[in-house]
Amino acid sequence: MLDVKRLLILGGTGEAAALAHRLGRRAGLSIVTSLAGRTRAPAAVPGEVRSGGFGGAEGLARYLAERNIDLVIDATHPFAAQITANAAAACETAGVPRLVLARPPWQAQASDRWLRVPDARTAATVVGDLGRRVFLSTGRQDLAPFAGQQGIWFLVRMIDEPAEPLPLENYDVILGRGPFAAEDEAALMQEHGIAVLVSKNSGGQATYGKIEAARRLGLPVVMIDRPALPEGLAVHSVDEAAAWAESHCPAEPEPPEIRA
Ligand SMILES: NC(=O)c1ccc[n+]([C@@H]2O[C@H](COP(=O)([O-])OP(=O)(O)OC[C@H]3O[C@@H](n4cnc5c(N)ncnc54)[C@H](OP(=O)(O)O)[C@@H]3O)[C@@H](O)[C@H]2O)c1
Repeated sequence: MLDVKRLLILGGTGEAAALAHRLGRRAGLSIVTSLAGRTRAPAAVPGEVRSGGFGGAEGLARYLAERNIDLVIDATHPFAAQITANAAAACETAGVPRLVLARPPWQAQASDRWLRVPDARTAATVVGDLGRRVFLSTGRQDLAPFAGQQGIWFLVRMIDEPAEPLPLENYDVILGRGPFAAEDEAALMQEHGIAVLVSKNSGGQATYGKIEAARRLGLPVVMIDRPALPEGLAVHSVDEAAAWAESHCPAEPEPPEIRA
């Protein structure tokens, strides 16, 4: 009988979903995708899906042992630093091989006007010098540092309607889930008289439209750099991550020979 390996994909990104689709039919591999549970209607993926935190690194280490997880691929968002640190610690404790799948960061092009900053707190301190109408596309988790900024109007995009007022003085919310085309992003920025864009350097195509739009409109971008990854194996593509998982699986049985 084929020995079945259990793979935990830490998800919440398009790459995590693509990886689950890619490996979903692999014989000898059973997949669990874990989501933080922040999005109300996440896209369906093959295999088992669990939702909600594990209870820190210790909780995750317990989960790995209880569920006999053989492999972990951390395909969380490049800015989800806490779960990535927890996964590194938990896999170390449980002796489970771990790989990080993180799409490459965007690179500034010649006509881009990026001001690179190390974190959202620094972004909040510099944005007012660049403009008073700000497209704040950092996501819900990173709004708090902008709370004290007086005299700035923020356009905030979210996937789900916020349950509570945002911690900002002057703002409008628009709802939307990527991918976003550059033409639409440019039209949105013009419609709202945006003077500056604040973005995390998330990488990938789905949200690159706003970066292209800012370039076309000649707008400055406050670009928040990624947090550093913990030590360990990391790849940039779904293909590489799938190959790593497959290299830990038993060989697939040959299809039976058909004789004429
Ligand atoms: N940060 C972003 O900009 C961003 C953008 C798009 C998507 N996302 C996705 O949204 C999720 C939350 O992001 P975040 O920045 O809030 O994460 P975070 O700060 O790194 O994690 C905070 C806590 O949320 C729980 N958690 C996060 N991801 C989880 C997962 N995939 N499965 C189970 N629990 C998870 C963990 O709770 P416990 O300690 O209790 O285990 C973790 O300690 C991530 O899965 C990420 O891929 C994040």
